[in-house]
Amino acid sequence: MFVRALRSIVREKKNGVIAPGSLGFVNAFSSASASQSQRLAGKVAVITGGASGIGKATAVEFVRNGAKVIIADVQDDLGHAVATELGPGAACYTRCDVSDEAQVAAAVDLAVARHGQLDVMFNNAGIGGNPVRPPLGAVDIADFDRVMATNARGVLAGLKHAARVMVPRRRGSIICTASTAGVVGTVVNPSYSASKAAVLGLVRAMAAEMARSGVRVNAISPGAVATPLAMETFGSWFPGKSAEEIRRIIEVDVSSMDGTVLEPEDIARAALYLASDEAKYVSGHNLIVDGGYAVSRTAK
Ligand SMILES: NC(=O)c1ccc[n+]([C@@H]2O[C@H](COP(=O)([O-])OP(=O)(O)OC[C@H]3O[C@@H](n4cnc5c(N)ncnc54)[C@H](O)[C@@H]3O)[C@@H](O)[C@H]2O)c1
Repeated sequence: MFVRALRSIVREKKNGVIAPGSLGFVNAFSSASASQSQRLAGKVAVITGGASGIGKATAVEFVRNGAKVIIADVQDDLGHAVATELGPGAACYTRCDVSDEAQVAAAVDLAVARHGQLDVMFNNAGIGGNPVRPPLGAVDIADFDRVMATNARGVLAGLKHAARVMVPRRRGSIICTASTAGVVGTVVNPSYSASKAAVLGLVRAMAAEMARSGVRVNAISPGAVATPLAMETFGSWFPGKSAEEIRRIIEVDVSSMDGTVLEPEDIARAALYLASDEAKYVSGHNLIVDGGYAVSRTAK
């Protein structure tokens, strides 16, 4: 039913005025406005899910701003390639399945062993689970467990082990990727929505305790961004459409802001703010980056 509604939105939008090519200026403008300053100079960050999509864009943004980053992911080839692109002095890759607490602990320890400290933990790795939303009677409980193990348990492990090394220094910023799907009911798999609501719950539960130790804890909730995760999910809702058509559905048809595309770099810049000292008193916040969708619920 939800996907049918989404399809009709896309059909209606087809008669709209925005051609994909007309977004070029907007994209060029948003890239040109990227910060050239060194807002994270001297800081060390671990980015889970850093081999792709939002995590990769954040690794690029953090390094551009003077940070050293550890890319922690399960896609070894992509992770190594991103680290190589960023340069060996600035980035390295480590295999880390966030559903395994010991591997999360090891990624944090690697940051400390290599650079002497951890300033920013970006708990960003995530999976979508079953892309097709089943009727409630057919929900796969095993899929719920898998999604929770990565999206929620992985975040709790990241919080725990980042705090282990940050609290003694009485400083640090922990950022967790949630989603608009954790804020409002959406068309996506309910296991995914529940896992993202759990991320927000963890941030709220830990913020006050961590603040007393000098460590900030925040969430970012992106709207739909055309990363591999979203491309796969939307692709399953619109079988037979090309990758280019799926990208257009995400970036244009279901976008909250006509004429503006939500890109991984927009989420990276939100993470940059929360990671930087500019956000020194910001904790327990959920920075929603969705063009107003979650508060208005007037999805097209
Ligand atoms: N793309 C969107 O529309 C959207 C919207 C809201 C929230 N998010 C969230 O953003 C985060 C990043 O996703 P993305 O959109 O960049 O997708 P992506 O698929 O490009 O990146 C996700 C990364 O996480 C990694 N990963 C998956 N399971 C892992 C595990 N167990 N351990 C370590 N790494 C693992 C993947 O290998 C991948 O590199 C996720 O938490 C996702 O739920 C995405």
